[in-house]
Order: sequence, then structure tokens, then C-alpha cells
Amino acid sequence: MKLLHIDAGITGEGSVSRQVSAAVVQAARDAIPALEVVRRDLDADAIPHLGSQHLGTAEGAGVLQEFLDADVIVIGAPMYNFTIPSQLKAWFDRIVVAGKTFRYTEAGPEGLAGGKKIIVASARGNLYAPGTPLAVNDFHEPYLRAVFKFIGIDDVTILRAEGVAFGPEQREAAVQVALAAAPAVVAELRTALAA
Ligand SMILES: Cc1cc2nc3c(=O)[nH]c(=O)nc-3n(C[C@H](O)[C@H](O)[C@H](O)COP(=O)(O)O)c2cc1C
Repeated sequence: MKLLHIDAGITGEGSVSRQVSAAVVQAARDAIPALEVVRRDLDADAIPHLGSQHLGTAEGAGVLQEFLDADVIVIGAPMYNFTIPSQLKAWFDRIVVAGKTFRYTEAGPEGLAGGKKIIVASARGNLYAPGTPLAVNDFHEPYLRAVFKFIGIDDVTILRAEGVAFGPEQREAAVQVALAAAPAVVAELRTALAA
């Protein structure tokens, strides 16, 4: 089983999303000894924004192939300005590719990348629970679910640490909520592997 570990946060050691994504990957390593982990750090090694000079280059093909080869993708995804970081958007621009991960048919679009599991470590400064005034500003988690669904992936689990900007105590509590969800997610992974 191959796990692709992606991080997009720019706050290094202090990053909540990195802390949670790393904990998930470590728990998965511990639970599944044969697991092969591939690392992609979108801050240390940014993928250029898609432009005329980059269309169809070998680098883009490499990013796509790495995604296609993975069974599980763990993504550290902070919310920046109500959506995902542009570093992560640049990654999506390389993996959402007509003819590779989706295609249009007479019946409409069809996802071609099904069968993968996505685990997102979501970190946000504010609170966006359904029914709250800020819920309409959440273009972060709904975006992630929508784009993965478009390419055929419904199996998206989100470990959420939110309200982290409200102060150190709230931040720590939010991190603990997200970390507490990790064992069940990893247990499910191990079961899926055994099936
Ligand atoms: C450039 C930038 C933009 C941000 N925009 C938002 C935002 O729109 N809404 C929000 O709730 N938090 C926002 N935040 C707060 C982050 O989501 C929060 O600090 C989160 O923990 C960042 O992830 P990290 O800890 O992994 O770096 C922003 C932070 C940065 C650095």
C-alpha cells in the first residue's frame, strides 16, 4: 500500500495541519509495517502555478503519476482566505487532468481516479460549523470534497482543528480534537488493506 503525504502549510514547526497530518502518517506507519510513504512538501518544494510554459511538462506528469500510484493520500491543508493555499491549488491543477483523472462523456463528466482514500488534516483560524454565520464562507473543506468527487473519489475523511486563532488554549484543544480522530481513521485504513 502506498501513502502519499502532502503538506501545504507555511508555518513550519508551528503548523497545526502539519502536526495532524504527521500524526496520521506516523500512526499509519506503526499500524501497517508494509506501508510505503512518499512525501511531497508543497512549501519546501513548490509546484509552479500552471501556465503556458508549464502545460504538459515532465514535472506535471510526475506529480500526476505520484498521485495515481498512491492508494491513500494524507493532506495537511490549512484554510487561507476561506479556501485552500495556492500551493495546494497548484498541485490540484496537475492532478485534475482530462483523460487521466476525469473525462467527459455524453452523460457528463466521469471521475477516473476512484478507489483512493483521502485523509485531510484541516486547520482554520475561525469556526465554520454548519448553521453558523460563517458556514457560507467555507470554500475550504467543501472545495476539497468537490474536487475529489469530480475525479471519482468519495472516500474523504477530514480531521478538523478549527478556531485555532482564538488563543493558545483553544488552539491546543482544537489540535487534540483532530488528533483524537486519527486512531479510528488509521484502523479503518488497516481494515481496508486487509480486505
Ligand atoms: C495567509 C493566511 C490566510 C488565512 N486565512 C484564513 C481564513 O480565511 N479563515 C480562517 O479561519 N483562518 C485563516 N487563516 C488562519 C489559518 O487557517 C490557521 O492559522 C491555520 O492553523 C493555518 O494552518 P497551519 O497551522 O497548518 O499553518 C489564515 C492564515 C494565513 C497564514
